Amino acid sequence: MEEILQNQTANEAGENFPIPVLSLHHISFAYDKTPVLKDLSFDFEKGKMYCIIGKSGAGKTTLLSLLSGLASPNTGDILFEGQSISKTDKYVFRSRDIGVVFQSFNLITKYTALENVVLSMDISGVKIADKKARAMALLQSVGLDEDEANRRVLLLSGGQQQRVAIARALSYNPSIILADEPTGNLDRETQGEIMEIFKGLANEGKCVILVSHSAEVAAMCDVRYELQKIQRKK
Ligand SMILES: Nc1ncnc2c1ncn2[C@@H]1O[C@H](COP(=O)(O)OP(=O)(O)O)[C@@H](O)[C@H]1O
Ligand SMILES: [Mg+2]
Repeated sequence: MEEILQNQTANEAGENFPIPVLSLHHISFAYDKTPVLKDLSFDFEKGKMYCIIGKSGAGKTTLLSLLSGLASPNTGDILFEGQSISKTDKYVFRSRDIGVVFQSFNLITKYTALENVVLSMDISGVKIADKKARAMALLQSVGLDEDEANRRVLLLSGGQQQRVAIARALSYNPSIILADEPTGNLDRETQGEIMEIFKGLANEGKCVILVSHSAEVAAMCDVRYELQKIQRKK
């Protein structure tokens, strides 16, 4: 696990450190009586690509649910731009500030790629002038052509569906992108292409948080946080 500065905005020399866009403060989480996450404190900054790595069952997807406000920690706090998300409107947080790429994509398969992205813009409530044009531009930016953008999702390949899911997560221009095993079902070449898209988003200033069990994916990220499976009492 790499050490990074926490809870600091300036060092002794007075140099400024970026305030993390998202941070976990001593969070723990259990499903009923099954503890999954214990006392985690991680910081996430804009402009960087993070990988949360850990074995299957270590709690990666659970952590992603907490980071995206879909579940709440039992103890500890999650801060977005310094404010606890437990005290803010989670719906607004989820539909404006954070974009999630789910492991199973969760796309509406009978809709076209373009319709999926436009629908996400509609739901977010964020004002966007020409939704169709922006959706098409986003889909093209992740490597789909016009014909593919207008095709029903069901008729797209796994790699193409992954791109649609990324474009949808970007639809309302959130500052944080979370992706659960984004290259899990892809061949190596497509994995490389998808990782390039995420790298580009971090370079544009977004905070990109990937969850993966792949050492190869982790190696491509700026910062790695490892989750250990916690010992449970039998
Ligand atoms: N809804 C749930 N109810 C009860 N236990 C769960 C639930 N979801 C996940 N778990 C358990 O929590 C642990 C962590 O799961 P998960 O976060 O999916 O791990 P990972 O994504 O790292 O594979 C596992 O032991 C899993 O069985
Ligand atoms: Mg998982």
